[in-house]
Amino acid sequence: MATDPETNHLADIDPIVVQLACPRPIHFMSKSELFTGFLGKVLRFDRAEFLAERWDYRPGEHVSLICPTQNGKTTMIWDLLQHTDTSWCNVAPVMLVAKPKDPVVARGLAAVGYREIRDWPPPPRAPWRDPPPGYGLWPPHLTEVDPATNNIHLAGVFRRALHQLFWKGNTIAIADETYHLSAVLDLAPELTRHWTQGAGMGSGLWSATQKPSGTQQGTIPSFMYSSPTHTFLGRDPDARNRKRFGEIGGIDPRQIEETVMGLQRFEWLYIHRNGPTMCIVSA
Ligand SMILES: Nc1ncnc2c1ncn2[C@@H]1O[C@H](COP(=O)(O)OP(=O)(O)OP(=O)(O)O)[C@@H](O)[C@H]1O
Ligand SMILES: [Mg+2]
Repeated sequence: MATDPETNHLADIDPIVVQLACPRPIHFMSKSELFTGFLGKVLRFDRAEFLAERWDYRPGEHVSLICPTQNGKTTMIWDLLQHTDTSWCNVAPVMLVAKPKDPVVARGLAAVGYREIRDWPPPPRAPWRDPPPGYGLWPPHLTEVDPATNNIHLAGVFRRALHQLFWKGNTIAIADETYHLSAVLDLAPELTRHWTQGAGMGSGLWSATQKPSGTQQGTIPSFMYSSPTHTFLGRDPDARNRKRFGEIGGIDPRQIEETVMGLQRFEWLYIHRNGPTMCIVSA
């Protein structure tokens, strides 16, 4: 029987009928439209199911995670990385760690086998050791100097890494604590270059922040909202932060706000720019 899957997917039952009618198995793309349920209701996925079946990352795509502190940003980054094929990377993914201490980062690095390094570029690898699946670039803070000098030191290390990852192409830079990197360490120009020109180079930037509205010290470039293919938003009680949802584009910011305010701690509203489409990911 001749079957044309292109024109035969109006009803939910069609994939089953087409599959039964065809002698060869058919692979149905997990189409973005499938995220939206009956009457436009935003579907909810168990995190394990989302990571295994919905999460699909391509070279050069940017990822943003935004929610208040202690809401699971870093944990979600590790979850995503563990479900991301990075075999195409020219340099293994690099997480830039600006905090002096973070047990979730330390646990994550150990769990995924990323190599913790203090400076960039990484020290040469002994020939008998396998290349690490990624790096945690965690420069030690200078505790004997004033904060400005310490910031210059940290910024210099991260700037070198961002520069190389951008120009090498086919890389993933992970800027956990984007507010700190951008507003405190003055790395907004480097981050902006990634957001605006990285996609074509295959240079993806994964960024996470808890202070999207900014402070007197500085703000986060609007590209953190407008350039990612993948955006994860957590519940945020601060209306000033929610105001920035309008910068995502493509989806009514009121719908985003309404959905986000219905989330529990550790849950995410996931928005994929193609479509655009969205779903809720459980804790
Ligand atoms: N889905 C989850 N279920 C249960 N606990 C979680 C979940 N995600 C994170 N946690 C726990 O919540 C705490 C904060 O998580 P995490 O460090 O990932 O948050 P964060 O948003 O990155 O925090 P910060 O803003 O301080 O960097 C940790 O103790 C972590 O183990
Ligand atoms: Mg964190």
